[in-house]
Amino acid sequence: MYKSTMATSLADLTASITSALANLPPQNEIQEPERFQVLGALAQLQEALQPPILGLHKLLFGHQALTTIGIAQGMGIFDTFAENEGSALTIDELKKKTKGDEQLLVRIMHSLACNGVFKEVDKETFQAKPLAPFLVTGTPTGQFVRHVRGCMRVNARLYDYFEANDFKYPVDAYDSPFQFAYETKDHYFEWLKKNPADQEAFNATMTLGRQFRGVEWFEYFPVEKKLQDTAPDRAVFIDIGGGIGHDITELKNRFPQLPGRFILQDLPDVIDNIPEPLSNEIEAVTYDMFTPQPVPRAKVYYMRTVLHDWPDKQALQALARIHDAMADDSLLLINENTYPETNVPYHSACIDITMMEMFSSLERTEKQWIALLEQARFRVVGVWKPEQHFTGSNALFEAVRA
Ligand SMILES: C[S@@+](CC[C@H](N)C(=O)[O-])C[C@H]1O[C@@H](n2cnc3c(N)ncnc32)[C@H](O)[C@@H]1O
Repeated sequence: MYKSTMATSLADLTASITSALANLPPQNEIQEPERFQVLGALAQLQEALQPPILGLHKLLFGHQALTTIGIAQGMGIFDTFAENEGSALTIDELKKKTKGDEQLLVRIMHSLACNGVFKEVDKETFQAKPLAPFLVTGTPTGQFVRHVRGCMRVNARLYDYFEANDFKYPVDAYDSPFQFAYETKDHYFEWLKKNPADQEAFNATMTLGRQFRGVEWFEYFPVEKKLQDTAPDRAVFIDIGGGIGHDITELKNRFPQLPGRFILQDLPDVIDNIPEPLSNEIEAVTYDMFTPQPVPRAKVYYMRTVLHDWPDKQALQALARIHDAMADDSLLLINENTYPETNVPYHSACIDITMMEMFSSLERTEKQWIALLEQARFRVVGVWKPEQHFTGSNALFEAVRA
């Protein structure tokens, strides 16, 4: 009796899910809160239904997906599907356009199909699923793969690092699991300078942050009110560690009338790598944030997800350089991920471990950010967040000199 009731209800469940799938609105019409509500419910359902051993299997072999995706990129598989604009391809067709042996091709395609990147529509005939175009080489998301493969090399040796260091928490950016795994004394950013393809992949990956952040900071921070009265020859906004200028460009486009100079600062290998010329109203200059700030008395010194790359020791040094440069009415704006105190979401936990392995750094909670800024002799006058603030996403810390 018990068995048959369960069987019926599970059959009903399958039918409801199948019908929901058939009637799902297009991706771009789904509202984020509803999307995450359904995803949360599905995750619970999956956990409840899945035999634990299957869950364990997925967990333990999860790393293989990244490896096979990297190999498929090297063989030119995603680029070939992109050139064929959505048509299904047989192994014979693929073989003519990709590098490597047929046997390898078949095995990689099967691995990618069971990871949801392709669908095997017929025996050894594959069709790209929505994820595949994101893996085309040269796209920012394709470059993301190269970047994460570099992190995975460290991850693969993380256990060895901790065993060798008595499982002590790393606190020095120059003695992190990264140096251990890569057998180098270089900081990751110095290593990137010597490895231009990885530097390019890192820069491209940084432009993707927006897709995780949702609403941009200048939509919930009163930019015009706070920055409007700046003299035209004064720096109104300095984006320190601003990467290739994506954030400052969006700010400038959104508020073209704001008076004052807009300045992007980053390391030479980033500034020299800017792929498209920036608006001529943005000055892009090379600058190392551990050295004295060359533009004193700016209205705003801004950093987005720069300090999370650094443990407190170096973060305090960079903040001291800003403190030295500030005028009485200058503002420091720190746009950072905020790590929840409990129920840490998957994305935040992944970034936190990445910060630890690459930099001996961490994702900080709101309280930890405020404590760090206070230790650097700032007073936090506001913590700005969008109306819909998802756990772990960015907050904007507004601070003045204490
Ligand atoms: C995580 S990325 C964030 C980039 C950008 N702000 C964003 O939100 O997309 C960190 C940035 O800090 C820069 N950076 C690292 N060390 C630096 C230093 N010593 N001086 C200036 N910028 C630095 C990196 O080159 C990189 O562009």
